Amino acid sequence: MKTAITELFGIQHPIIQGGMHYVGFAQLASAVSNAGGLGIVTGLTQRTPELLAKEIARCRDMTDRPFGVNLTFLPAFVAPPYPEYIRAIIEGGVKIVETAGRNPQPYLAALKAAGIKVIHKCTSVRHSLKAESIGCDAVSVDGFECGGHPGEDDVPNFILLPRAAEELKIPFVASGGMADGRSLVAALALGADGINMGTRFIATAEAPVHDNVKKAIVAASELDTRLIMRSLRNTERVLMNDGVRRVLEIERSKGASLTIDDIHDQVAGVYPGIMIEGDMDAGAWSCGMVAGLIHDIPSCKVLIDRIMTEAEQLIHRRLVRLSSH
Ligand SMILES: Cc1cc2nc3c(=O)[nH]c(=O)nc-3n(C[C@H](O)[C@H](O)[C@H](O)COP(=O)(O)O)c2cc1C
Repeated sequence: MKTAITELFGIQHPIIQGGMHYVGFAQLASAVSNAGGLGIVTGLTQRTPELLAKEIARCRDMTDRPFGVNLTFLPAFVAPPYPEYIRAIIEGGVKIVETAGRNPQPYLAALKAAGIKVIHKCTSVRHSLKAESIGCDAVSVDGFECGGHPGEDDVPNFILLPRAAEELKIPFVASGGMADGRSLVAALALGADGINMGTRFIATAEAPVHDNVKKAIVAASELDTRLIMRSLRNTERVLMNDGVRRVLEIERSKGASLTIDDIHDQVAGVYPGIMIEGDMDAGAWSCGMVAGLIHDIPSCKVLIDRIMTEAEQLIHRRLVRLSSH
């Protein structure tokens, strides 16, 4: 399938694996890219720019296809040295960067000068238009359903995607709630040029996370996520567990006086315990409502091939049959 996104990034299928903290290592990114999608290494999971340079080199050893690096500009407890991370990306020869969180403008000139294509992840039409106006090549439009940070507008993808299509000139992918061929066909129908998936890619054979995480996603239904940190305007969609129960209780008792320090232990530095050690109650971890659509743990190749086959069949059989009556 050829779309503006496959053309822009030089990939076979319009399927991107979004950056994911403590999940987006070289193993997963290279597996997605080898399967014809676009794999993305999560920059800030590497604790220093030197470690990111090593992870990029490792990914390059594992695939000769294009892959990207995610740079997230979220409120951090200590600001990371972004210019040095960008130097590692440029010197590592990476040609695609997924930015997310705050406006990437301060770093865009350096990325563009190195011939890097930038796809910015946004949760609203106005942020997508801003990304377009400052020179981003594409956007990833992340609806309310998404795992991670859905923003504060709460607009689901059935509205957000066609609204983005009405306004944007640059290509965009649909992110949040995407799992299968149905998602891809729906996203294309709503005006997107492909899909970005997070949660679905965690439940794959190559995702280098503890089996407990994959099993928790398969066991979860679409009812099992919660939103936390709303009053801090840093809303995150996470899978319900004992850590999240503690956060919700503290949020309820503190009300408007809540500060990040009140919940710090449940939301900061918890990813290694969850993703590597498989301690599923260690704290809050991002997970999308799409968990309700995830029933197995295939390889990335099986998953991507299945999505493409299902999408082609939907288009050529179901939709053609329906429209010919
Ligand atoms: C465990 C997890 C960690 C994530 N970490 C990041 C991150 O560090 N930076 C980022 O830009 N997005 C992050 N995301 C968001 C994903 O890249 C993607 O936008 C989102 O998962 C899409 O929604 P979905 O889970 O419904 O597919 C994360 C998502 C998950 C599930």
